[in-house]
Amino acid sequence: MRGRSDSRQSKPPAKLFARLNPNVTLERAADESISALLSGDTVALGKFSTTTAKRSADLKTGLLLDASASSSADSETEIHELVRRLSRCGLLEYRLARARGGRDLAVIEPQVRDFTPRIPEIGGNNTLVLSRFALMRRRGSDLVLESPRSGALFRLCDTDIAATIAGLSKPQTLRQLRRKRGFPGTELLAILVDCQILFVLEANRDKGLRSSEGDGSLVLWDFHDLLFHARSTIGRHANPSGGVFAYAHVVDPLPAVRPCWPGETIDLPKLALSPSGIGSSVASLLRRRHSTRSFDEQRPITLEELSRFLDGTARIHSRDLVKFDSDDGPAIETAARPYPSGGASYELELYLAVDRCTGLPRGFYHYDAARHALVPIEFGAPQLEAMLADAQFSMAASAVPQVLITITARFGRVSWKYSAIAYALILKHVGVLMQTFYLMATDMELGACAIGTTDVDLFAKMTGVAFHVEGPVGQLAIGRGLDSESIPVAG
Ligand SMILES: Cc1cc2nc3c(=O)[nH]c(=O)nc-3n(C[C@H](O)[C@H](O)[C@H](O)COP(=O)(O)O)c2cc1C
Repeated sequence: MRGRSDSRQSKPPAKLFARLNPNVTLERAADESISALLSGDTVALGKFSTTTAKRSADLKTGLLLDASASSSADSETEIHELVRRLSRCGLLEYRLARARGGRDLAVIEPQVRDFTPRIPEIGGNNTLVLSRFALMRRRGSDLVLESPRSGALFRLCDTDIAATIAGLSKPQTLRQLRRKRGFPGTELLAILVDCQILFVLEANRDKGLRSSEGDGSLVLWDFHDLLFHARSTIGRHANPSGGVFAYAHVVDPLPAVRPCWPGETIDLPKLALSPSGIGSSVASLLRRRHSTRSFDEQRPITLEELSRFLDGTARIHSRDLVKFDSDDGPAIETAARPYPSGGASYELELYLAVDRCTGLPRGFYHYDAARHALVPIEFGAPQLEAMLADAQFSMAASAVPQVLITITARFGRVSWKYSAIAYALILKHVGVLMQTFYLMATDMELGACAIGTTDVDLFAKMTGVAFHVEGPVGQLAIGRGLDSESIPVAG
């Protein structure tokens, strides 16, 4: 939808132009197939008509994304398809300007794979306000506006526009905004509404405070927690992520062992050796624990082993009603599992992406910890492949894991009670569960490896659950390790 034209708007409406990222170039082959080149890599984008191939040259400076452009409808569909493919690969940004050669008002950088800027209709009487999750900050020499809820980040190219947007910490109607010197045009405001950086107030007297933005699950999120979740996982931002050694040339690595404090030391006795290994059976289990990234394709883990593993680590063994603070304080149901959890929150859930498991079909399952049962979840096969392939990549392994456990959190279980520390608590719980998994796997002679990156967007697509309601916070690959001497248990 296009923004409503307004005769009082003296300046022409802003237009969207798709533009290649600065480090990307396009190459046209003789058969009109197009490829993108970046830092030595080539991405094939497919074959296009001669008209589209010619128009693709405009992507260097900015290709007008407008159905009213002087070209046939077919070539318009094709050029949009080319833009969509470039956007899915993270090779594009969108500039918003009043004319092709005019200065940029803002540049929109997609943060999620399938982002397309949309301009919903907003009217003069609509009251707009900033989301409490929106933030403006310096990035290099740019001023950027972003939000963990938004599918895109905005580079603001005009400080008057930035000031007008900052002024939206108090609700204002579009009519009031039009009178401001830094009025950016309806189009930018409409795109910001679509990206949930601004929102339209339903009622006139509403101040746009916490309770009026989003659903009940969003109300429970603190600002820093949602930002931390969205930026420390993958799928909802385009920043470099994982082991990229970004500052290896700037700062030396810290030593593996902390330099000794000065002064006297008191040497401690070491664990004594016993016939079973070192010290107690727990100490021996801890000493034997290690990460396994290669799994035995001939002898996959069995359903019976998986069942024993889940029973021992995650099954609910008792339920209770707990009163907080006083007898007339709120009561909350708890569901105890084998590992500790702050406030007995037990917010963690398990989802299994199964590639090979004797007795269990390949697929994606939720572990129902109360019934001790697996519940298949239907979705497209490419997403299962993508999830398993991501895990393989994270472990630099030669094959996908036999079973990939995704640990998710039902965030509201923790943030309903705890302010400021909710997300940090959840990550601590993940650590606790991770070690519980490792020890059980060691005891059962199974191989396991924790994985540090999870794609929150992929999980949301697979399950249809919004990323702020329940989402991945950790992963573990499990299967029969290549070095295992255990005999498979029949499924
Ligand atoms: C939270 C966490 C995240 C990890 N992420 C990864 C990962 O993404 N890829 C990987 O190959 N190993 C990962 N590991 C495994 C570590 O590399 C491994 O624990 C470490 O090298 C010590 O080796 P060990 O587990 O065999 O004793 C992770 C471990 C933890 C605890």
